[in-house]
Amino acid sequence: MLITDISRMRETVKSLKKEGKSIGFVPTMGYLHEGHVSLIRCSRKDNDITVVSIFVNPIQFGKNEDLDRYPRDLERDIEICKREGVDYLFYPDVRQMYPEGYSTYVVVEGLTEGLCGAFRPGHFKGVTTVVMKLFNIVQPDRAYFGKKDYQQYVVIKKMVEDLNMDVQIIGCPIIREEDGLAMSSRNKYLSPEERESALSLSRALFTAKEIFEKGETDPEKIKQKMRQIIQSYPHIRDIQYIEIVDPKTLQPKKRVEKGDVIALAVYVGDTRLIDNITL
Ligand code: PAF
Repeated sequence: MLITDISRMRETVKSLKKEGKSIGFVPTMGYLHEGHVSLIRCSRKDNDITVVSIFVNPIQFGKNEDLDRYPRDLERDIEICKREGVDYLFYPDVRQMYPEGYSTYVVVEGLTEGLCGAFRPGHFKGVTTVVMKLFNIVQPDRAYFGKKDYQQYVVIKKMVEDLNMDVQIIGCPIIREEDGLAMSSRNKYLSPEERESALSLSRALFTAKEIFEKGETDPEKIKQKMRQIIQSYPHIRDIQYIEIVDPKTLQPKKRVEKGDVIALAVYVGDTRLIDNITL
């Protein structure tokens, strides 16, 4: 069922809770793909009720980012939600979420300055604020996030822990196309030639894992090899970062260990893609 009203969503949640139903929540910005579907399936398995939200959150986009061209297709998203047995699709508009005079934000310090945070100032403040608002509206028992946005997942876990919020954050594995490209709504921006070059990200990550498994623990050597691979493809406009970090603190490692995360952000043409792998 489609719900566009915050008050209606809250009333619905209230009566579901009265009935003792557990609520699983999948927050999204729409243009759903197999990655989202995997989150929905996890939620349906663990909970009585699954709520999906679609909200393209303006405050997590920078001035020169892709808010205006972010892909949208509500009809298709509704079909996917129906097919997947989603109970409620929450689709609020911007004016309801951020009425005039809106002035409250949630900031997680420390985890948000590096990696994507260094290149997208204010991005995580926008994410944590909207996720907090959505959690307050939907009041889920469990919420599901894809680990493709690894930093986002860690930041939200920290917010929930620090603010004693009563919701379990569940990180789900990255879903890839058959050729390795991590699923993302932004893949739609890629021309066929750029899509070919976008494969360089997962290829570099898979190679890095292989090199590590063969015994290399120097992060610089691993990162250098990854750069080489990515730069050997056309249409690579900018490698914003390649970092090997501790999975919890997101601090760069001096010696690479099992369990560390290699994360990267690369512009392929005008499209900024991110991906990561856990060693
Ligand atoms: O990952 C996303 O799609 C968004 O950042 C989220 C979590 C829905 C918040 O707008």
